[in-house]
Amino acid sequence: MKQEKSREILRLAVLLALLRHGVSETDRDFRMCGTWEHGWGSRNLWFDVKKGCETVSVAANASTLSISGSIMGSCENSSSIPLDSAQGNTTHFCVFFDPLLDLLQVEVRGQNHTLCRPAGLQESCCTGLSRIDNKSASEKYGIWNGSIRGDLMNMDRHKIYMFRGENNSCKADLCSEAGEKPEQVDSIEKAVMRSGKMGKTDLPCAQGSVMELKKGSHGLDVTFPPTKREHPKPTPLVHLPPSLVSSGKRSAKVVLTYFSEPTLFQKRGGEERRKERVLKEVVGISVENEVISGLPEPVRITFHHDTVSKNETTQCVSWDTRKDPEVEWRKEGCETIRKFPSETECRCDHLTYFAILVQLKPRVKVPHLVALTYISAVCCAVSVFSCIILIFALTRAQRRSGQDQSSPIHRSLAVALLLLTLLFLLTGVLASLENHSLCIAMGALLHYALLCSFTWMAIEVFNAFWLIYRVLKPLPKHYALNLMGFGLPAGLVILFGSTCDVYGLREIESSDETTIPHKMCWIKNTTSGSLFHYGTNISFLACLVCAGVAMLCLVLRKVQNRTEWKQNRVAFLSLWGLSCLFGSTWGLAFLDFGALSVAVLFLCSILNSLQGFFLMLRFCILEMMRRKSAVADGSSSASTRQHMLQEQEKS
Ligand SMILES: *[C@@H]1O[C@H](CO)[C@@H](O)[C@H](O)[C@H]1NC(C)=O
Ligand SMILES: *[C@@H]1O[C@H](CO)[C@@H](O)[C@H](O)[C@H]1NC(C)=O
Ligand SMILES: *[C@@H]1O[C@H](CO)[C@@H](O)[C@H](O)[C@H]1NC(C)=O
Ligand SMILES: *[C@@H]1O[C@H](CO)[C@@H](O)[C@H](O)[C@H]1NC(C)=O
Ligand SMILES: *[C@@H]1O[C@H](CO)[C@@H](O)[C@H](O)[C@H]1NC(C)=O
Ligand SMILES: *[C@@H]1O[C@H](CO)[C@@H](O)[C@H](O)[C@H]1NC(C)=O
Ligand SMILES: *[C@@H]1O[C@H](CO)[C@@H](O)[C@H](O)[C@H]1NC(C)=O
Ligand SMILES: *[C@@H]1O[C@H](CO)[C@@H](O)[C@H](O)[C@H]1NC(C)=O
Ligand SMILES: *[C@@H]1O[C@H](CO)[C@@H](O)[C@H](O)[C@H]1NC(C)=O
Repeated sequence: MKQEKSREILRLAVLLALLRHGVSETDRDFRMCGTWEHGWGSRNLWFDVKKGCETVSVAANASTLSISGSIMGSCENSSSIPLDSAQGNTTHFCVFFDPLLDLLQVEVRGQNHTLCRPAGLQESCCTGLSRIDNKSASEKYGIWNGSIRGDLMNMDRHKIYMFRGENNSCKADLCSEAGEKPEQVDSIEKAVMRSGKMGKTDLPCAQGSVMELKKGSHGLDVTFPPTKREHPKPTPLVHLPPSLVSSGKRSAKVVLTYFSEPTLFQKRGGEERRKERVLKEVVGISVENEVISGLPEPVRITFHHDTVSKNETTQCVSWDTRKDPEVEWRKEGCETIRKFPSETECRCDHLTYFAILVQLKPRVKVPHLVALTYISAVCCAVSVFSCIILIFALTRAQRRSGQDQSSPIHRSLAVALLLLTLLFLLTGVLASLENHSLCIAMGALLHYALLCSFTWMAIEVFNAFWLIYRVLKPLPKHYALNLMGFGLPAGLVILFGSTCDVYGLREIESSDETTIPHKMCWIKNTTSGSLFHYGTNISFLACLVCAGVAMLCLVLRKVQNRTEWKQNRVAFLSLWGLSCLFGSTWGLAFLDFGALSVAVLFLCSILNSLQGFFLMLRFCILEMMRRKSAVADGSSSASTRQHMLQEQEKS
């Protein structure tokens, strides 16, 4: 029973759709053509049109082609236009009428005469002009081959053609037509563009706005008036950058369309296949006769919306009607800036004909982000103090025991770590300032500090290996080491930072928070950014760990028979292990979080942030062991022992 009924409704809907199809854009318009047979003398075009929706007649006699009637929405005009003298006694002509725009034109032998100029979208208008038979006596002059919308009405000569229209609500019709076929949604924007009226236009389903953007201006900020009087809701705020004006032009006509209801944009067919849905508002932007892409300064659209639920996130998407005839929301070309739980900014660098909106999608992001952020901050602070203490202690130790080769290396590592930790603490603060170039600089600096830490860790490991494996040979000079430790990363960062656009704002989203995601200035989450990240950080780290393991094996083989080694095996191994830990943990923080479990995440974040502290701990243990051994062995073996410990220290 129920099925019957729904089938009935479906059939009706199909029928209606078929019927409605008859009133597509071209059918709303009126085009009547014919061949006017006139006398050999002078000719003119006479017209007298009025408001209303009754009849219109197109008549012709020896000297005059006349159009009169009341079919216009708002235009009232009457005049006589002289036509240039013709060769021959026949002239082809066409009458165009666009009721939506209130445009009336007559083309006589290839020349257009505008009788009524477009005057904005008409609320009510005269559509579906159809012929009413008026048997008028055929005279010597008249219209041959009269046709309407390309269909020949008859081939004889008629003195007069008469048409009658229906009074319709054009704006409402435009909206329902747009809703019928997805590829017709842009007919609204096209109509607004053609309407020739600057400023706002209201439609039942949308608000249109046509404005002129001048070159050399600061761009335009546009808002839409709130739709509901009782509960005014903030509407989107649009910023149009001046770069929308293409080079070589003084200004550009921009059309903005704002849909407060997304009904025209819902995906058809199949029940919401994906979990994604669109938020209420849709904004369409297009520039007259232009396809715009790769804008240097993006178009910004700020949407205010209801607070999104915890398991969802917002995403700016756009639909390019040129590429996808069916509704297809894509996220390419638009950047999503989540400012508040109830505010999202979309930055898009392309405009063809398209609409931007905010899409809701399920979150898959870092759990417990806020807790992690706080823990990292506290541990980082501990590390900063540890590093400072360590740097002082090492400077003093070096002054005391002159030629200790390892102290400067330790100190450089501590400096690099101090820089890294400080910058890491600062990056969140700087990122929230929303200063683009500052963030790029910050990202580059942070990356530099990380690479410095990596290189100094590598140097540490190598130093230890060198001292144990080739006991007596001296290390390379310090300035060479410094050049490598601080210069190599600088070169890398400057090279890539200046040639590729890799540094910038990076958002890490939380899954347990509806609040703002954690922002940091780092390598951007783009394809080139990821490649760069893997190419430098991850590969560097992998080399470091591999080299560390390889050297450890070599050292173990070399020293396993020495008596000193046997006595200090535990201390030696634990110190080496601690060194490796330094290296491996930092990298993990910069990996994508997705696959890691919560426990690993917390562990990484704590270990990473405490690096400076561990470094100091190691220094203290070594110092203690050195003192103890110095006290225990007064004999000649003490120096060998001392040396062994020194070796361990380097690890
Ligand atoms: C159509 O009808 C409405 C009232 O029903 C009237 O206000 C409007 O002027 C009419 N339009 C035309 C073009 O005749
Ligand atoms: C032709 O028609 C126009 C307007 O309808 C009229 O003013 C004019 O007198 C007519 N001319 C002839 C020769 O009938
Ligand atoms: C127009 O010219 C053709 C020949 O060129 C002639 O046969 C016809 O009668 C003329 N029509 C009028 C109305 O003068
Ligand atoms: C005259 O205007 C109509 C409708 O706007 C257009 O289709 C036609 O191409 C125009 N003709 C010329 C010669 O500009
Ligand atoms: C009235 O017609 C003349 C042409 O004869 C045209 O120049 C003028 O723009 C028209 N007025 C309106 C309001 O369209
Ligand atoms: C038919 O045309 C004549 C003259 O052109 C006119 O007077 C008459 O009103 C028209 N008839 C109808 C039904 O419109
Ligand atoms: C009317 O159309 C027919 C067929 O297209 C053509 O042969 C004839 O010459 C046309 N008449 C005039 C006056 O243009
Ligand atoms: C989000 O969570 C709510 C309950 O907390 C649930 O009803 C809803 O279906 C979830 N939405 C998604 C997209 O998972
Ligand atoms: C990085 O971008 C990809 C797709 O562009 C996205 O799936 C991923 O969640 C992003 N990662 C982060 C941490 O933002």
